[in-house]
Amino acid sequence: MEIKLITKLEDKSLLLQLRDLLILGDQEFIPPLSSRSSTTQQGLGAAEGGGIDLYFNEMKTQCFVLALEGDRLAGFMSFKLDHRGAHVPQAKNLYASTSVVHPDFRGRGLMTAFYREMLAAYPDRPIYTRTWHENFGHLKVLERLGFTLTELLPNHRGEGIHTVYYCHKPYYLCKESTKETL
Ligand SMILES: CC(C)(COP(=O)(O)OP(=O)(O)OC[C@H]1O[C@@H](n2cnc3c(N)ncnc32)[C@H](O)[C@@H]1OP(=O)(O)O)[C@@H](O)C(=O)NCCC(=O)NCCS
Repeated sequence: MEIKLITKLEDKSLLLQLRDLLILGDQEFIPPLSSRSSTTQQGLGAAEGGGIDLYFNEMKTQCFVLALEGDRLAGFMSFKLDHRGAHVPQAKNLYASTSVVHPDFRGRGLMTAFYREMLAAYPDRPIYTRTWHENFGHLKVLERLGFTLTELLPNHRGEGIHTVYYCHKPYYLCKESTKETL
């Protein structure tokens, strides 16, 4: 399996496979991606029904880490550089926006490898992401890699479904916060 970081994705076959994978994973997200208008939409409580292409067209302009088995796309993570938005305090950052691993390849460490690739490529930047509080697969990966919970938005995705923001700080920021607490 090849793990590849791409800052501008133009390969037509990969873009088609990316869209297919997004459609495959759509209903596993809360709320479904096809009901969102962008990867960074703030309100996630009311479904808007924008359709998958609204989401895909915004996502495909971002950076990617891809998992490739030959020519086959096994999974991906999209991320933004220097994302500015609520709950993301440091401006020089990476923001992991979407990840789907094909069911055939889950539980083999691909999402873990996506984050590791980003950490290796941008060691001096914090990585932010968000998910919902019962996405146990994603949460397991975040905890394994040393991400910490930075925000919890109660009932943000509907009654009883909370949004959680996580951050992986680079070494120099960890040092600063240690200093502050001394
Ligand atoms: C979330 C997702 C990307 C994880 O991809 P992956 O390549 O299988 O992740 P990894 O193999 O690196 O790690 C997942 C870990 O969570 C565990 N896990 C998966 N589902 C779980 C669950 N329901 N409860 C507890 N642990 C779970 C796996 O066993 C694995 O742990 P292990 O390595 O100790 O066995 C994949 O499940 C997926 O595409 N889900 C649908 C879309 C989604 O939820 N995307 C993220 C939205 S923010």
